[in-house]
Amino acid sequence: MLARNRFLLLVAVGGATLALISLSLQFLNLIPVAPVEERPFQASDGGAVVAAAARGKSRKRVFPRTEEPDPLSEAYGYCNTPNRTEQAWEGHSPADYKLLSVQVMIRHGDRYPLYYIPKTKRPAIDCTLSTSRKPSHPLLNAFIRHMGQGGRGHWESPLGSAPRLPNHSTCEMGELTQTGVVQHLRNGQLLRQAYKRHKLLPPDWAPRQLWLETTGKSRTLQSGLALLYGLLPDFDWAKVTARHQWSTLFCGAACDCPARSRHLEEEQRRQYRLRVSDAELERTYGAMARALGLLARQLRAANPVDSLLCHLCHGLPFPCAPAGAGGGCLITAQFAVIRRQQLDDEADRRRAGLYRKYAVLAMHPYLNRTANKMERVARAHEAGRGRGGGGEDEVFALSSAHDVTVAPLLSALGLEGARFPRFAARVVFELWKSPPTPPPKKKKKAKARDGEPCIRVLYNGEDVTFHTDFCRSHQRHAGRPLCPLDNFLSFVRRDMFAVVNATSYQEACYRRPG
Ligand SMILES: *[C@@H]1O[C@H](CO)[C@@H](O)[C@H](O)[C@H]1NC(C)=O
Ligand SMILES: *[C@@H]1O[C@H](CO)[C@@H](O)[C@H](O)[C@H]1NC(C)=O
Ligand SMILES: *[C@@H]1O[C@H](CO)[C@@H](O)[C@H](O)[C@H]1NC(C)=O
Ligand SMILES: *[C@@H]1O[C@H](CO)[C@@H](O)[C@H](O)[C@H]1NC(C)=O
Repeated sequence: MLARNRFLLLVAVGGATLALISLSLQFLNLIPVAPVEERPFQASDGGAVVAAAARGKSRKRVFPRTEEPDPLSEAYGYCNTPNRTEQAWEGHSPADYKLLSVQVMIRHGDRYPLYYIPKTKRPAIDCTLSTSRKPSHPLLNAFIRHMGQGGRGHWESPLGSAPRLPNHSTCEMGELTQTGVVQHLRNGQLLRQAYKRHKLLPPDWAPRQLWLETTGKSRTLQSGLALLYGLLPDFDWAKVTARHQWSTLFCGAACDCPARSRHLEEEQRRQYRLRVSDAELERTYGAMARALGLLARQLRAANPVDSLLCHLCHGLPFPCAPAGAGGGCLITAQFAVIRRQQLDDEADRRRAGLYRKYAVLAMHPYLNRTANKMERVARAHEAGRGRGGGGEDEVFALSSAHDVTVAPLLSALGLEGARFPRFAARVVFELWKSPPTPPPKKKKKAKARDGEPCIRVLYNGEDVTFHTDFCRSHQRHAGRPLCPLDNFLSFVRRDMFAVVNATSYQEACYRRPG
């Protein structure tokens, strides 16, 4: 465990005054063995990088403004409470463009905490589904009934044995809540509206045209099914195959990449250094621990921000210790300090650029698959076998994932300024074909030029195509108002590795550290 020793040394030299036992706790929390779980440290699900939520008062923006953010309104943006109508720009294009395919990656919806703060009561949240509870949705009962028939679907192991609905009167750790289900029914309905006039999936769609993949966690499986139901109410189960991704990076058979962990460790050291140098944060943890009669390291290990976010999102008062244990309570001001530090961490992360290097290697396999699918669909369409033709290819693909998937995806695309993925966040890749160009009038025998395949990228309904690395410098003009697919293809196959000074995934992953 060379890396571990180096890390402990670094911490000691850094002058941290923590007890050794707490160091190893920190260490275990900091460096996951394999990227199969949501990272149980601050920069993870519900954790630290809950950054950059809605900075505008009423308008939610994907790219935060530069003014000093308010940690609490940021946190509410992260909750993504489904209580207002949302503007969605999916499915928008210049006239005469044809929509060929759509690939979506989502983060699961609102969930119960993954951590428990010792000596406090767990938040009282009911994870059964009921239209008499808020927030509800007009499709909720029909969705529940439909999930009851899920046995007719095809399930890659181990998904067949995962519950298709949350159903515990006291939520289990990490369980999807009714809020989470409603968030994704709404996402599905939004996309249904957006793509209706484009007739993306014909009424008699073939099984091959729909791709659904998820990690083995029930919250991602259930989130994916809720979105699918909102998109295609009463879909035919017999046509659906739920595919399993064992890694939260959705890297399939290409997960092996030694350099990736090195970049992640560097990033985590940066994060650790920033955190222990934050005197206000240290004082706050101390005060919180005293209020509950805990040791500061016990409280830290319980990742309290995860629990507190859940209280906040569900309008529950922050937890208190029982009278016997002092009866102290955690307060909003303490939560705000932790969140402020998380926002500082986001800013520092962007400056340092270490996360970006990790993200490029983490998300290449997923992006490579996405690019390959798009190219296939575009080719099939050129050859006249596409939609309405042979129906050979996936027209709609849904990957139901975690914050530790969506955050590196955004970073790898160069969308570093985008806010941290809130509950039920969505990233959408749309493939379009421009209208054919008529032949030049003067040349008698010239043929019409076929349309060009183009890509749009959206984050939470906002078009971010021209913020991505591969299209930031694209000169939009009347003839080419969208981003050419070729830009994306060469980005994924070569250009994205420039940030790690390489030209391929193999080279970047296996080169010895210099
Ligand atoms: C929606 O919920 C959030 C968080 O609970 C709250 O701050 C906001 O005022 C609500 N908006 C509406 C329109 O009810
Ligand atoms: C939820 O669980 C209860 C008790 O285990 C069961 O009776 C009920 O049918 C379940 N509901 C659904 C929708 O699965
Ligand atoms: C990327 O896609 C190509 C097909 O275009 C494939 O040959 C290659 O193995 C893929 N690489 C990775 C790392 O997934
Ligand atoms: C980038 O890689 C090339 C060839 O592998 C090497 O010669 C060069 O020194 C590297 N540059 C940096 C900045 O690491």
